[in-house]
Amino acid sequence: MHLSIITCLPKLLESPFSDSILKRAIAKKLVSVDIVDLRPYSLDKHKSIDDYAFGGGAGMVMMIEPLDRCITDLKSKRQYDEIIYMSPDGEMFSQSIANELSLKKNLILLCGHYKGVDERVREHLVTREISIGDYVLSGGELAAAVVSDAIIRLLPGVLNDETSALSDSFQDGLVAPPVYTRPADYKGWTVPEVLLSGHNANIEKWKQEQAEERTQKRRPGLIK
Ligand code: ADE
Repeated sequence: MHLSIITCLPKLLESPFSDSILKRAIAKKLVSVDIVDLRPYSLDKHKSIDDYAFGGGAGMVMMIEPLDRCITDLKSKRQYDEIIYMSPDGEMFSQSIANELSLKKNLILLCGHYKGVDERVREHLVTREISIGDYVLSGGELAAAVVSDAIIRLLPGVLNDETSALSDSFQDGLVAPPVYTRPADYKGWTVPEVLLSGHNANIEKWKQEQAEERTQKRRPGLIK
């Protein structure tokens, strides 16, 4: 998979990809991530990428021209499956969208800033719009990092134990059951007996019941 993330603040996106699982996925060449700085695609001498909104109103708007030039340049090198604009009014991101996107080959994530992008970018250049929640971030970068992380960890070979993404919360429509590690007794706070029993079938049954109970209690909306 290849991800191109278009941003006017490339530094903001350095750290999520330079540690832990994402760093390892890139090192193992399971994914390549290109942080694309939008500014060099500006045509004017000040390298501006935003301008005042027609009709007035507070806040600047990202201009179509640098974005079109940038996207055209990227498309000349690869065929992209989706050009995704990160926006608070987009489709709500979920595990099932992460699963779906993890099967694609090439994706562009476009990070907005200021008051967003010129509407014509959304009408003519973008193929999909994703929100990570009903709140407004200062820009799309953190949202793009969230979406990238959720996708990349699903790629075959990224997690050490491939089954571990399958046992994540939400993969089966349930939240994950509680987990424990040593010591089995800490200050009298003990681990459920069944987990120490070595009886696999009972352990699996307990996990399933716990997942169902937790989902009912914490996220009843997930139960159809
Ligand atoms: N950009 C600003 N806020 C956002 C959000 N909630 N989701 C995706 N992109 C955003």
